[in-house]
Amino acid sequence: MKKQAITMALLLAGTTVLAHSGVKDPDVMNRMMGMSEMARQVKLLGSMAKGETAFDAAAGNKALEKISEEASDIPSLFETRATDPNSEALPVIWETFDRFTGHAQELERVSGALAGTLEARADLAPAMKQVGRACGACHSNFRE
Ligand code: HEC
Repeated sequence: MKKQAITMALLLAGTTVLAHSGVKDPDVMNRMMGMSEMARQVKLLGSMAKGETAFDAAAGNKALEKISEEASDIPSLFETRATDPNSEALPVIWETFDRFTGHAQELERVSGALAGTLEARADLAPAMKQVGRACGACHSNFRE
């Protein structure tokens, strides 16, 4: 169960990290870089959770804080309806922008609330599960 939560969150973070290579539109590039930055933080948490790196509470809490900060930028990063052949953003984002930004706020809230709560390695899996769920809720509706 724990392992599953970590794997799920890492899958969300990892699958298409390189989709942005070759993107020409600057707005599309920026929002992809924002996503990639969050994915980097999730991976950092995942490598601690799996024991690949030593548990570091301060670094883990900082990663959650960064995810929350980055999430707060999502609405402005997607404000312009920019397109690119490599983009995986679905048109429904701009048709229901309130719902889309609602998912961003949810991620901001969840990761912000978790930041500061990591005290032991065992705290990582449940935290990653919550964060991963917030990423996935948006992706399943708004990303190809
Ligand atoms: C509010 C909606 C939303 C939330 C929340 C969200 N994403 Fe995304 N994400 C998207 C959309 C839309 C795209 C596709 C952007 C594009 O291709 O133009 C995307 C793309 C990505 C990509 C691919 C970036 C690239 O370079 O192509 C990664 C990686 C990613 N998200 C990781 C995450 C992670 C990790 C989280 C949670 C910590 C997260 N996302 C939360 C909407 C969201």
